[in-house]
Amino acid sequence: MLKVENLNKTFHTRAGDIHAVQNVTFSADNGEMVAIVGASGSGKSTLLALLGLLDAPDQGSIDLDGVELANLDAGGRTKYRSHQVGFVFQQFNLIPNLSARENVLLPLEYARWPKADRVRRADEMLALVGLTGEKSERRPTRLSGGEQQRVAIARAFAAKPQLILADEPTGSLDKSTGQKIVEILRSAASTEGATVLVVTHDEKIAQQADRRLEIDDGVLSEVA
Ligand SMILES: Nc1ncnc2c1ncn2[C@@H]1O[C@H](COP(=O)(O)OP(=O)(O)OP(=O)(O)O)[C@@H](O)[C@H]1O
Ligand SMILES: [Mg+2]
Repeated sequence: MLKVENLNKTFHTRAGDIHAVQNVTFSADNGEMVAIVGASGSGKSTLLALLGLLDAPDQGSIDLDGVELANLDAGGRTKYRSHQVGFVFQQFNLIPNLSARENVLLPLEYARWPKADRVRRADEMLALVGLTGEKSERRPTRLSGGEQQRVAIARAFAAKPQLILADEPTGSLDKSTGQKIVEILRSAASTEGATVLVVTHDEKIAQQADRRLEIDDGVLSEVA
């Protein structure tokens, strides 16, 4: 379970202070997919960067399954990023000179999974996202955008992280492919028991989530 309390992040710029994340408090269960909607510049990516420990909050608490992430030292943060969190991006961000399967194997190497288990786990995740057979041998440029995003989802879940952070995962896809991709994210969340936070501009995509949160100038609220 993810519990975020009173999270704050202000950027100090020459044009003045930007309160990108203001007193954000929410929680999300294991297996749950939560959508985060909000206008451009409202703080969505900043919030994900804080939760992924890519950036440090000024204040606040991020508790993941009883562990306070704000208290981790540098080694603990690195371990968290390789073992407990998975990222999905708008531009897929697959490694171009590796096959689909090799892309999914990478996080398993980083997380030091036993060699004997890695291929089985990678193929299990590729099957879960519907990428099978010869396609798992292909490099990303020989896959469609939707297929590349399936690989990216398989990669994000591979090392069994508790938390998946997806920033506009449908932003580069057509509407129906985007809906399919979010359905895959939602079902992977429940099969794998991970918490998935998905940032989107698209209200229809947000409606596929179990819950919706809206962020407005850094202030988060639950959408009924
Ligand atoms: N490193 C930074 N330095 C200064 N300001 C920043 C920085 N990162 C983000 N901001 C500002 O913080 C605010 C929130 O930005 P953020 O990227 O979180 O928005 P967003 O909701 O993800 O927008 P979009 O939908 O366009 O991706 C914006 O005003 C942005 O200009
Ligand atoms: Mg953003």
